[in-house]
Amino acid sequence: MKKGFIFDLDGVIVDTAKYHYLAWKKLANELGFEFTKEQNELFKGVSRKRCLEILLEIGKLEATQKQFDTWMIEKNADYLAYIDNMDESEILPEVPKILEFLKGNDIPIALGSASKNARPILEKVGLLSYFDIIVDGNNVLKAKPDPEVFLLAAKQLGVNANDCIVFEDAVAGIQAANSANMISIGIGDYKILNEAKFNFQNFTQISIKFIQGLIKN
Ligand code: BG6
Ligand code: MG
Repeated sequence: MKKGFIFDLDGVIVDTAKYHYLAWKKLANELGFEFTKEQNELFKGVSRKRCLEILLEIGKLEATQKQFDTWMIEKNADYLAYIDNMDESEILPEVPKILEFLKGNDIPIALGSASKNARPILEKVGLLSYFDIIVDGNNVLKAKPDPEVFLLAAKQLGVNANDCIVFEDAVAGIQAANSANMISIGIGDYKILNEAKFNFQNFTQISIKFIQGLIKN
């Protein structure tokens, strides 16, 4: 059966997870509380709105709708400022090698990201043309761990869900891939991503042979 490969963006293709963290930390500090890297794990793969809800829970703060909207805008403005000068040097190691291999073998490739900033980021780093399909935060109603983003990507690729392979750095993303019946590959700390079918610290540990195996099976 035809296989499809779905990549998360932040923390898988580009090292933007740190900029999301910095922008949330800045807001938390302005609101008078700390926001740690450990707490930031909960934000990976999660929509901007849900992140702010969690942040306010951490800070034990209540917000009016107006404040909530203002803080969402502020966080995104700070994030966009952090990524403004981003270029291909922020692509995570060996990601282009894998994309190049898939493209060269006519394997369909999709992006499955919670971010509403996905397209401009892919453009900035020069990877947009690799993706046959982009499903991002502008296209889905339900955030990861709901499988909607990956199921939509599979549908648009014309590939059965159980023939899709998902690369993810977030617990919520691994759970989304698993509930979509896809093969989940965790990129990052295996202790955190222990629900994934396969784990790698980063793409430098993934061989073309491994990818060929996924395509054949
Ligand atoms: C995900 C990130 O890819 O996108 C989350 O892992 C982020 O941390 C989410 O909150 C939404 O991103 P954006 O760019 O729409 O604020
Ligand atoms: Mg991610």
